[in-house]
Parts: sequence; structure tokens; C-alpha cells
Amino acid sequence: MKILILDSGGRGDALGWCFKRDPRVKEVFCLPGNAGMEKNGIIVKPDVRAPGEIARFALEKKIDLAVGGSEGILSAGIVDIFGKHKIPIVGPSKVATILEASKGYTDILCSEVGVPVPEFEIFEDPVKAKAYIKSLAHEVVVKCDGLAEGKGAIVCDSQKEASEAVDRVLEMQRIGKWGGKSVVIQKRICGRELSFFCITDGYTLVPLPVAQDYKRAFDGDQGKNTGGMGSYSPHEWEGEKLTKIVTEKIAAPLLKGFRDKRNITYRGFIYFGLIFEDENIEKPVLLEINVRLGDPEAEVIMPRLKTPLLDISRALLENKLGDLKIEFLSDYFCDVVAASGEVKSAGKGKYPGYPGRYKIGFPIRGYFENDFRSLTFSAGITKDAEGKYMTSGGRVAHLVGWGATLENARKMVYAEMEKTSFEGMRFRKDIGNFLK
Ligand code: GLY
Repeated sequence: MKILILDSGGRGDALGWCFKRDPRVKEVFCLPGNAGMEKNGIIVKPDVRAPGEIARFALEKKIDLAVGGSEGILSAGIVDIFGKHKIPIVGPSKVATILEASKGYTDILCSEVGVPVPEFEIFEDPVKAKAYIKSLAHEVVVKCDGLAEGKGAIVCDSQKEASEAVDRVLEMQRIGKWGGKSVVIQKRICGRELSFFCITDGYTLVPLPVAQDYKRAFDGDQGKNTGGMGSYSPHEWEGEKLTKIVTEKIAAPLLKGFRDKRNITYRGFIYFGLIFEDENIEKPVLLEINVRLGDPEAEVIMPRLKTPLLDISRALLENKLGDLKIEFLSDYFCDVVAASGEVKSAGKGKYPGYPGRYKIGFPIRGYFENDFRSLTFSAGITKDAEGKYMTSGGRVAHLVGWGATLENARKMVYAEMEKTSFEGMRFRKDIGNFLK
């Protein structure tokens, strides 16, 4: 079989690696992918990005099954386009991607159907947004309504920060870097966050492993939000009790409301970003929906699957999710991201590093030469004219250690981190550390 993954980062590599282990799978392609994925035997075409080109590629290569990995290509309507060409693909239709593409839309739907979300208001006018912030006695999170490459949720410690965040979001939207044209101001809630995933046909929900993501840039959850600096799975709350609570209070009413009130049936992987107020498992609040698997969560979920990803995908496409029971390993997997950190710029200044401005084009040492016991998933890697691997993104590579305990998985990944380097490489030292 020939598989096509549509993604560019570590999640795409993890999905591809998972398919590659299946003896029924002959070739795995990832578009656009990144050059580092070759390490896991995945064929990439970094220049093939537009939906039309991707569909042509899939037809030429006679792809048997595709998986939409990233929100960008899913929101561009790749599932509808593949559908027209009768190429089997896992992912939601364009109209269903609104759950991620508009935070305001999802918050309004949730309020209508009784799914708990933080208190919120939506504004296009910065003056009204700032007046609202001033009227509040609580801290807020300012969110870009549309897609923003994982950088659109700004957690604010003060009213001043929140007002600045409003200006930043509206400016990024005005210059077309972020999607939408409004800001969502949400009450900032304190509690335990986790990432809960399912595959669904819009009716049946089949849960996947639960993961903990680390969104802040620096140790001790300091610094700005990133796309994710590391993760681990299983989460200590994973199990029947959590599944029942999340399904009954969040997932099922949301998908039913999406069908009944908006006439949209969601099919594909779905990601519920949740916070539990007062660290109470009975009190989940939905922070965000993503219409895909998480990144860096996919990197610790895929290795735990005992049920082949091919069988999971086919069950969805053949409308047999009701018969599917996904089995996964109880071993722990711990992902740490090697990111582009602070480096000097040509003048007197410096690049602060991801998620701020970062410099690319540094040679990567060790990653392609060493034998790693940990798994490796490439995120921001390119090849120069001589075929040397260089950094090309904020998140460069993921290392994933494993073991019977989280501590063993951590020990493995941090020992292995020593084997790779590039100028300015930075990584969090506290992934999987409860004592942070
Ligand atoms: N790890 C957060 C995300 O994938 O959106």
C-alpha cells in the first residue's frame, strides 16, 4: 500500500513512522514534509504544497490512503478535493474545520449546547475589546479567532498585556499572517490542562491515548506560548473515568450540536484541549478544538498504538468505527523538542529564538549520524545545496524516550539529547517532571 501524509512537522513524521512499521505498507510519502523525515524512510516533496498539486501527486502515485495532518491543509479543503477524485483520506471536510478555524464560532456553539467553555466575548473593534478587558476583575487569554500557527492564544498577566495582545492579534490579522478578523477574550482559568483525542465519524467516538503537552517556551511553564515544547503519554488521568467524563460533558454534546444545530457531521481525528478547574477531574472546561492530532502529542501517541493506524483509518473510512477498539501500550513515552534558541544577529542585536524571531540555516550535528535508542521525529530540517542537513524552523526535531515508567522515559530522552546539537539549540529540561 502507498500512504500519503499531509503535514510538514514532527506530527507528520510520527504518523509516517507509524504507518512505516506496518508490513502491509510499501511506501510512505509526506507532503510537503521536511528533509529530516528521510531518517525514518519517509519520502518528502517540500515543494508540493498547493491542494491541486497535492491531489495530482496522489493520483500519479496511486495513493491508497491519505491522512490530513495539519490544520492548514485541512482548512484549505483537501478532504473535499480528494473526495472528488475518490482518493481515500482521513480528516474533516472543509466546512467542519471551522471548529478550529474560528475559536469564536466554537465558543458560541458550545454555549448553545451546554459544553463548558471559559466566559468569553468576541470583538472586531479594539476599543470595545479593551473597554471590556478593563471592566473585568479577572485575568484573560486573548485569542486570535482564526488560525495562527499555534501562536494565537496569548495568556495575559495584566490588563496592559491584554490590551497589547488585542493590538497584536488584530495587526497580525490585518497583514494577513493570522486568520480571522476578530479577537476572542476568554476568562483565564487555573487548573490542570491535558490533550484528549478521538477518532470519530460524528456519531461514534473512539478514544486515543491521552497526552500532556508543555506549551510554554521555558522551564517551569515560563515564557510565551509555543506550539508545544514537549509532551508525554500516558497522562496519569488516562482511563475509563476520564473518558466517560470528557465524552459525556464535552465530546458527545459538541458533535451532536454540530450536527443538529449546524448540520455538519465531523469525521476524522479530533483534539479536545481541556483544563480541569481546581485540578478536579469532574470539572472539564473546553479551551480549544483542533481538527487534527496534536503536535507534539502525536509523537507520544503514535508509538503507543498496538492497533495499526491503517486499521484505525480504514474503520473510519468504511464506517466501522463502532467495531473498533483501539488498543495501546501502557509504556510511557516522553517527547522533548530541540528548538531554535537565542543566537547573535549580524549587528549588535540578537534573535531571541522560538517562538519569537529565530535564525535558521545552522548545520545539525549528531542527529543523522548517531544511533538513537529514542525515537526521532523531524520538524524543521532542510538540506542545503551540498545535501547537508540544516535547521529550517523554530521547532527543529523531537526526541522521544520510552520506558515502563515516566522517569525511565525521561532519563532516556535527556541522555539522548546530548547526542545532537546545532547553534542556539534550546530545549526544556522539565518535560515529564511533576516536581516542577
Ligand atoms: N500541541 C498543541 C497543538 O497541537 O495545537
